Amino acid sequence: MANQTIIILLLLITIFYKATGHAKSPSPAPSLPFPCLPTPLSPSYPPSPAASTRRLLACIHVVDLPHDVHRHHLLHPCLYGFVLPDPTTYRININQQDDELLANFTTTLQGKVPPAKALLSIGGGGNNPAIFAQMASSAKNRAAFIDSTIAAARKYGLDGLDLDWEFPQSQEEMDNLGDLFEEWSAALAKEAAATSSWRLLLTAAVYFAAEFILADNRSYPSTSIRKNVDWVNAMCFDYHGTWNTSVTGAHAALYDPKSNVSTSFGLRSWVSAGVPAGKVVMGLPLYGRTWQLRDPAEHGVGAPAVGVGPGGGLMQFKDLMDYNVENNATEVYDGITVSTYSYSGTAWIGYDGAMSVKEKIYYAQGLHLGGYFFWALGYDKDWMISQRGMTTEGNHFLNFMIDVFYGHVGETTLDTEISAHQI
Ligand SMILES: *[C@@H]1O[C@H](CO)[C@@H](O)[C@H](O)[C@H]1NC(C)=O
Ligand SMILES: *[C@@H]1O[C@H](CO)[C@@H](O)[C@H](O)[C@H]1NC(C)=O
Ligand SMILES: *[C@@H]1O[C@H](CO)[C@@H](O)[C@H](O)[C@H]1NC(C)=O
Ligand SMILES: *[C@@H]1O[C@H](CO)[C@@H](O)[C@H](O)[C@H]1NC(C)=O
Ligand SMILES: *[C@@H]1O[C@H](CO)[C@@H](O)[C@H](O)[C@H]1NC(C)=O
Repeated sequence: MANQTIIILLLLITIFYKATGHAKSPSPAPSLPFPCLPTPLSPSYPPSPAASTRRLLACIHVVDLPHDVHRHHLLHPCLYGFVLPDPTTYRININQQDDELLANFTTTLQGKVPPAKALLSIGGGGNNPAIFAQMASSAKNRAAFIDSTIAAARKYGLDGLDLDWEFPQSQEEMDNLGDLFEEWSAALAKEAAATSSWRLLLTAAVYFAAEFILADNRSYPSTSIRKNVDWVNAMCFDYHGTWNTSVTGAHAALYDPKSNVSTSFGLRSWVSAGVPAGKVVMGLPLYGRTWQLRDPAEHGVGAPAVGVGPGGGLMQFKDLMDYNVENNATEVYDGITVSTYSYSGTAWIGYDGAMSVKEKIYYAQGLHLGGYFFWALGYDKDWMISQRGMTTEGNHFLNFMIDVFYGHVGETTLDTEISAHQI
């Protein structure tokens, strides 16, 4: 996300990350956030109010797509976030609280049967992307960063590392990101060989598409990603929001007949860019975005609006479900965008309901993606949506996550946010 984004992020962050830098846009820059923005706002690894410090981002890889035969590859990673690189040394900074929590984090996850993978997430929305840009700009800085991440991973017994740089702002920064992944992966392999250990996993949170189609034409270093990264979590949401209140929008539309700002376009762009589908994980939002309709009688996707709706423009799934009941709202599944919305008077909420989630999971299966994740499980209403598409085995992992979420992992001290993956 870009600077404008920041605003948004604060709202969202609940979920996870945040926003950041400026996107330079060559053209008349659409004025608002999204368009100029590099990012969807990422709830996905959202920014939180204050965001970004310490939270458990539990990702369940919920197992199999029904026809998936690679069960032995199933993972159910949980991410701890966020930590940041020091602005001068570029080594990741792990403070005393992180130190205590991380020790518990890995112990708890690895004590599960089967053990879950514990990853450390670096970055997060709302943090200054310039520090990442500086870190990635020279071999010396990258080496300092990489070395510190491996040292931390081994110190705390982690299984992997996750980068959430939101976002590289130019093609040069994207190219540097490619170098970073290349050198990071090589360092992980070298360290694993030298210590006869399991190679640490390397993952990243990325924009919904492989190119920043709304800002300029900078693209992710897909060749390096394909070669060096275990999987990317594509943040497929925040296509529409508070930055444009003139019309309602499906903020995580699978399809958009009028533009390329859609999940189907984004996911396909990753595959077209050369990243194997099995390394692409689809993000699903467990939150809605709201508008105030101009006319209660005109309430479709794209209907005229005059402002933000309930919740200041953003509502967690569980809250919007309660809102729908309390306000006798009418819920509609929109097959064109593959999204769900509800309206009550002039209040309009766009989100993913059970039906759109199911359709999107079928879509992901059709593309043979690696999995999907929810941002964030903690926003679900009684696990209603996060159980979609799960098999018995999937439910086993859901139970596992419920245990983690409500159980041990520093529940009182951590901001727990969970997202699920299917791999
Ligand atoms: C796209 O980016 C390349 C550099 O990666 C640049 O040479 C080219 O001019 C850009 N094209 C447009 C239309 O911005
Ligand atoms: C808001 O979105 C609508 C529909 O996509 C678009 O026509 C309009 O130009 C946008 N307004 C702004 C200010 O970006
Ligand atoms: C969508 O992307 C395709 C392929 O990149 C391009 O040809 C097309 O013009 C784009 N459509 C819009 C509406 O931008
Ligand atoms: C709720 O809305 C439905 C139509 O959507 C209407 O038939 C019903 O009377 C409403 N109930 C209340 C209590 O307002
Ligand atoms: C670590 O776990 C132990 C045992 O579950 C608990 O008593 C302790 O408070 C935890 N420490 C932190 C910092 O959460």
